[in-house]
This record gives sequence, C-alpha cells and structure tokens, in this order.
Amino acid sequence: MNLKDFKSETIIEPFRIRSVEPIRFTTMDERKKLLRDAGYNPFLLKAKNVLIDLLTDSGTGALSAAQWSGMIASDESYAGSESFYRFEAAVQDITGFKHVIPTHQGRAAENILFTTIAKKGDVIPNNTHFDTTRAHVEHNGAVALDLVIDEGKQPQTIHPFKGNMNTDKLEAVIKEYGRDKIPAIMLTTTNNSGGGQPVSMENVKEVSSIARKHKIPFYIDACRFAENSWFIRMREKGYEEKTPIEIAKEMFSYADGCTMSAKKDGMSNIGGFLALNDDELAKKSRSLTILTEGFPTYGGMAGYDMEAVAIGLYESLDEGYLRYRIRSTAYLGEKLSNAGISIVQPTGGHAVYIDARQMLPHIPSLQYPAWSLSNALYLTGGIRAVEIGSVMFGLQPDGTEKPAEMELVRLAIPRRVYTQSHVDYLAEAVIHTYHQSDQLKGYKVISEPAVLRHFSARLEPIE
Ligand code: F0G
Repeated sequence: MNLKDFKSETIIEPFRIRSVEPIRFTTMDERKKLLRDAGYNPFLLKAKNVLIDLLTDSGTGALSAAQWSGMIASDESYAGSESFYRFEAAVQDITGFKHVIPTHQGRAAENILFTTIAKKGDVIPNNTHFDTTRAHVEHNGAVALDLVIDEGKQPQTIHPFKGNMNTDKLEAVIKEYGRDKIPAIMLTTTNNSGGGQPVSMENVKEVSSIARKHKIPFYIDACRFAENSWFIRMREKGYEEKTPIEIAKEMFSYADGCTMSAKKDGMSNIGGFLALNDDELAKKSRSLTILTEGFPTYGGMAGYDMEAVAIGLYESLDEGYLRYRIRSTAYLGEKLSNAGISIVQPTGGHAVYIDARQMLPHIPSLQYPAWSLSNALYLTGGIRAVEIGSVMFGLQPDGTEKPAEMELVRLAIPRRVYTQSHVDYLAEAVIHTYHQSDQLKGYKVISEPAVLRHFSARLEPIE
C-alpha cells in the first residue's frame, strides 16, 4: 500500500463528548413572553430558556476528563493542601513568578493588587482596562487610563495586534504624572474590551522596557494569555516555530506579576490568582487575602478548583486545542462578515463582536441599538449575547446619559462547549435577524440601579 498522507482542510473539535447537557428549544411565542417577563434584559432570563448561551466565555467552559480525575483526587485541607502545591507549581512553571496567591476569581486578584499598590491621585496605564479592573483602580481613588493604539478603537481597521499599547502615549503619561504616581503599568492579554484583540510580543517587550527604565512595576492581566500566545505564533515574525507554552513563558518573563481569572484560559468554572515576584508586596497581599478570600493556600477556592486550574492551564496551551479554538471563533466571524454583517475585524480570540451601530442606523444610540439586536437574537434563535454599548456604558455618575463609543453585541464562545453545527445554527439565526434589521425597534429604560445598570435594568421596546 502506498497511501498519501492525509491533511484535512477541516479543523474538527479536538475532543469527543462523553457527558452531555441537554439544551431546550422554545418557540418564538414562548421567547416573546419570557423576554417580556425578564424586563427585556437577557441577564434576567433563566438559563434553561436559552438555547445557545454566549453571554460570556468566563467559567462556562467544559472540563476535561483529566480535570475531573484531578478534582476527585483533591486535597481539601484548610492549610498546605497538596492541591495548592500542584496549583502553585503549574502557575510558577508557566508564569515564572515566585509568589502565587490563589483567589476565587479574577476581580479578587485585582482587588488585592490595587488595594495594596494604588492610592488617591495615582494613575494606572493599561491598553484597555476590563470593567472590573477599572472599578478596582477607581475604588482605590486612582485613575484608570486606556492607552490602546488608535487602530484598536476602529472596528473595521485590520491590524494583527489591535490590543497593543501606544508606547508614545505611555511615555507621555509617565512624563506628565511622574513615576511616583504610577504604581503599575498593565497590559490586558487579549484585550477583551477592545474586541478580544491580541498584544504582540514586541509590544510586551517595549512596554516592559519602558516600565523598567522608569522602575515602575509591570503587570499582565493574563485572563486569555494562551489565546494571546497563539495569535503571536500565527502573526508575529520569529514565533512560527515556538510552542504556545514557550511563547507564554517569554511573555511573562518581561513582567513583574499578573492577575488571572482562571475562568477563562484556566479552563475552570471558578478561580484565579495573583502571581508576583516582589517579596514585600507578596507579604502584604497575603495578609489581605486572609481578610477577604481565605487562607493563602486556598484563597477562596476549593482544593478541587485548584486541581482543575492546575490541569486546565496546560490544556489551554495545547496546540491542537488553540488551533481549533481560534479557528472556530474566526469561522463564525467569517460567516457573519461574508453575509455583509459588520463585525470588529479581525475576529478576536474568545468572541465575535457585531457592530450594531452599522447594522441598525435607524436606532439612535440612546435607544440602544446593540441592546435591541441582542434581544432580537434571543427572539429569533434563543441565543443569549451581551450588549457592550450605551446601556452598559451610557449612564454617567451624575445620572445623565451619553452614547458609548461603540455599540457592540458580543458573542462570547464558551470553551469546548459548542460544536460546529451549533455555530452554523447561530450564524444562520444572526443572518436571519440581519435581513430583517429594519424591523428592530429601539428600547427605553423603565427602571435601573445607580451603577452597573445593565445587569438588572428593566426595559421596554419603543413602539
Ligand atoms: N480581566 C479581564 C480581561 C476579563 O475579561 C475579566 C472577566 C476579568 C478581568 C475579571 O475576571 O470575572 O473572574 O472576576 N471577564 C468576564 C467576561 C466577566 O465576560 O468578559 P472575573
């Protein structure tokens, strides 16, 4: 026999499924009622009434058989458990940081870091702060500055690393405020609020060298570090032959520490950590951990959560997994853009972001076009997405409203959960909605809390 080697064009899900969770079909009439009862706010829907749930990629992934087996063999000791040491060893191996402080999720690591280092009058530069990061910076009286490159704010502009920080602006900020007012510089990899866009190794190095020159600590928000590593391998010269773990290790080597939500590239349903090199800061952080999270060898996680993360961190760096992960997100992006739908280009790592302002020019920003589209996706296909627009960002502290910079609908893809036919269905439903976009109506707010209104506001369509 002389069979030729087979190189498939089709990238398949690199797993088989042994445990399944049924999803429930509803009729459009049922969905109309369910959405009305939920105050036209998808956050207030019961998950069982959602067919495909793309609200977030955070904590919604499927665990592997290896993770479950580690979890069953966990050590639940209060102090010094084996599960902690396995977790610590994995984090140290991948990040190279000396001190590993477990937390229940990403924002808890942010709370500990910024409570320890930031004070009133300080500024924290970042490419783009994620909402919780910004909230913790501001909660400590500091100012959160977003210094992403201009391309990162233009949905249609193609750039391989739209998550990069503008280093001229960074230098200017350091000059303006002085290094004493800047307790840390941060880079969010990938840049979630900017469309899940990656940061190049060159940019990481440049930011690091500026930070070192001025003796300012440099931290990475590492939530999607593995996806970022894959983009570097695919798009940056000199990295084509490197493995994702080599790339990740190099990236962390330029930093002094990181915050992490293990609910993303930790492949876990809960968990996170703060990892850092500074002994003094680690000591202070551990004291605060005891106050807010728990003893520093579990920090708000069960032993089995730490096992899941210790294994998940390596699984997220697996080449076959990353190839499928990034390709399957791009596959959805291509289907939508080939149908004429404007999305943030190029497709990010964990999500596709639809430009609702483009799709619904007849709905003014303060009648929430992205909210309207997100609700229409639920009515059409039982799909739950999330608005990243004027409902999320429009309400000002003084109670007035102003349009958000962009009106986006994020379709975040949970890890290892949906198959290609789910994605085909999803694309069909989005395109079906797009073809009737002139039917979509704006919304008005009926009741809302004073802050973070998108989670609990009730709205009504404007007839
Ligand atoms: N940093 C980034 C870049 C994030 O995307 C998130 C969470 C956090 C920090 C906070 O982590 O949720 O574990 O406390 N992002 C989720 C999302 C919520 O839907 O994008 P957490």
